[in-house]
Amino acid sequence: MSSSLSPAANRTCPVTGPTAPNGCPVSPLAAEFDPFGDAYQQDPPDYVRWAREQEPTFWSPQLGYWVVTRYETIKAIFRDNLTFSPSIALEKITPTGPEANAVLASYNYGMNRTLVNEDEPAHMPRRRVLMEPFTPEALKHHEPLVRELTREYIDRFIDDGRADLVDQMLWEVPLTVALHFLGVPEEDMATLRKYSIAHTVNTWGRPRPEEQVAVAHAVGNFWQFAGQVLDKMRQDPSGPGWMQYGLRKQKDHPEVVTDSYLHSMMMAGIVAAHETTANAAANAMKLLLQHPEVWREICDDPSLIPNAVEECLRHNGSVAAWRRLATKDVVIDGIAIPAGSKLLIVTSSANHDEHHFADADGVDIRRANASDHLTFGYGAHQCMGKNLARMELQIFLEAFSRRLPHMRLAEQTFSYVPNTSFRGPEHLWVEWDPALNPERRDPSLRDAQVPVRIGEPSAHAITRPLRVEQMTPVAYGIVRLRLVAPDGRVLPRWTPGSHIDVECGSPDTTRQYSLCGDPADAHAYEIAVLREDAGRGGSAWIHANARVGDVLKIRGPRNHFRLDEGARRIVFVAGGIGITPIAAMARRAKALGIDYELHYSGRSRRTMAFVDELRALHGDRLHLYAQDEGRRNDLVALLGTPQPETRVYACGPLRMLEALEGICAVWPDDALRIEHFESTLGTLDPAKEHAFDVELKDSGIVVNVRADQTVLAALRAANIDIQSDCEEGLCGSCEVRVLAGEVDHRDVVLTRAEREANAKMMTCCSRACGERLVIEL
Ligand code: HEM
Ligand code: FES
Repeated sequence: MSSSLSPAANRTCPVTGPTAPNGCPVSPLAAEFDPFGDAYQQDPPDYVRWAREQEPTFWSPQLGYWVVTRYETIKAIFRDNLTFSPSIALEKITPTGPEANAVLASYNYGMNRTLVNEDEPAHMPRRRVLMEPFTPEALKHHEPLVRELTREYIDRFIDDGRADLVDQMLWEVPLTVALHFLGVPEEDMATLRKYSIAHTVNTWGRPRPEEQVAVAHAVGNFWQFAGQVLDKMRQDPSGPGWMQYGLRKQKDHPEVVTDSYLHSMMMAGIVAAHETTANAAANAMKLLLQHPEVWREICDDPSLIPNAVEECLRHNGSVAAWRRLATKDVVIDGIAIPAGSKLLIVTSSANHDEHHFADADGVDIRRANASDHLTFGYGAHQCMGKNLARMELQIFLEAFSRRLPHMRLAEQTFSYVPNTSFRGPEHLWVEWDPALNPERRDPSLRDAQVPVRIGEPSAHAITRPLRVEQMTPVAYGIVRLRLVAPDGRVLPRWTPGSHIDVECGSPDTTRQYSLCGDPADAHAYEIAVLREDAGRGGSAWIHANARVGDVLKIRGPRNHFRLDEGARRIVFVAGGIGITPIAAMARRAKALGIDYELHYSGRSRRTMAFVDELRALHGDRLHLYAQDEGRRNDLVALLGTPQPETRVYACGPLRMLEALEGICAVWPDDALRIEHFESTLGTLDPAKEHAFDVELKDSGIVVNVRADQTVLAALRAANIDIQSDCEEGLCGSCEVRVLAGEVDHRDVVLTRAEREANAKMMTCCSRACGERLVIEL
């Protein structure tokens, strides 16, 4: 039994109807579930919405599988590949009749274990031995080919005004890249297309008995073709492909890279690397063109593409569902499921689970957690080729948005190859006016390119353009900026304590500013910027360059300085420009009726922003300390003695915050909350650091972190996805859960109690105290 999967064990059985293997009756909707029908094909997450909401795991009598639909449940299943074996991942979901079986036997068809359907302990050693060609570093070599093919294929139809993107590009380019990656000579593509569709239907489809024989012939031919290619490779395994790499590894590790594995992988690998990506590209283009306002944003700002790719894979991915076998009795979503049960885990449904993705049916290319999608699976078997697929998708989107930004979807109905798992439209007709092709005016656009980001679904890319609507001086050296969407649209909501990141002239100069306006104003963000001539240049750039009407790029808002709205009493302490988050928080405390006081110090009233507004709003609760008037905030007198049920929120100069930390050391854990904008991190000095190992519990690997490397960098080099933003311990985006080992915390995000609990860490800066950490990833 897996406790993480049993939030409500012994839930009552669903209504009446046929009976599931556990004796429970099957509900009418579960009885009707048909993953080969058009409703599932058109929109799988919508088709199982009822299940996500009412009956998240159910028995499907038509399929003979348990169907699982929620995000957390599916992730927990991926996490535990001993209880939930992947061995049935490539099994025929529809058993074939004797005639088709005889045809397959006549070709000596013997599809067996590869990687994706291999159990432990055999799987992990094989995955490790074969991983190197998939690392971001190794994948760079494939980029020129992807770019060249993309350019050539678009050249062929760019002047036509109409194209079927699937037939004329998106099927063949990923196939060529897949063959190149695997090291297979480019054979007849049309034949391979027929073979691989047959493989999909054979594995995940429900062919009628009369179709089964034709499918079996195609699959048998595919199997023999794979064998012949492999035999040829064996004669000279020196080539650069992944299969040749496998053949070379077989010499050193014959028990790990077996003959049976190589033949099966030769066939399954072509499909894994090709169809998944071709479908993902067609799905992505369809989704974006169905949302022309989103497409326009990408055309205007290609830096949005890496995250848009993740959002497309989440919203409309190319693998709709995957399979696992329960190896023991388990309880899933409260339903008792016997050992030996087969599970269809509908990852596309998980990707639309509101509990994990806010406004899950919406398309939000700036969604911060888009790359949490489960389209690539998760854990020990997570797709090894994900970064090659991401590279292709980014290059396709970038080329289309640059060369054919005026493209739109043509009138059409979409058809899909009926099956549970591999999903993409068979045709995707688009049209445009060739007279308006941008490169007729500017031929250099044909060859322009935006760098791809592989292995780094970083929040760095997620920017939002905002227009400066007002700039108002609010104190000496401080200007308040009111920022609005250029098209007047409402902005994402924020809570007091939030900040945004503003690009000050270039993506490399990004600064954080707290939002100081009114969260109820849905159309604007307000920040106040102090000109700091001795600073790192961000504020000076804003003062010198930003003008009303300009468009600035921002990211966020994000909140790492949350107000405890249940607090009984709050002491707010602000120094100088640190008043910005505190002003928004104090306003909220007042609105909530919390007992609070606000202590605000500065060099002189002239340099202190918002004094009149604060006085009007907070009256006697506001205490001002202007140094030149001889008034200083005596922090020891104010906070030297712990006060019951009181929280202290502080923002201001580093010296003030350090003093507060010292003074509040005698307070209960977490009473003091601090907002830092400056990192105290120095650059990593390898002479003072030690190397250590990080064991990734979910992925089943151990990554060595060198003394000159951050944990984040080491994880990325090992092909592990992890978000990041500031990369200096300020923002919290690179947080992971720690299961064992002592962390040397170096961030400024976690509170003292959180550090002591040792349950999470920031991978961009924190390290191990000892030789090893175990994290949940
Ligand atoms: C495994 C999806 C592209 C190679 C998988 C799995 C999924 C998946 C769902 C199983 C994950 C699990 O059980 O946790 C996709 C999608 C792709 C894509 C949606 C494109 C958008 C590729 C490419 C390659 C590739 C381009 C190769 C170049 C593999 C391999 C595995 C795998 C080798 C087996 C990994 C293992 O079991 O250890 N993929 N894939 N995939 N994929 Fe992909
Ligand atoms: Fe910002 Fe690590 S990336 S704290």
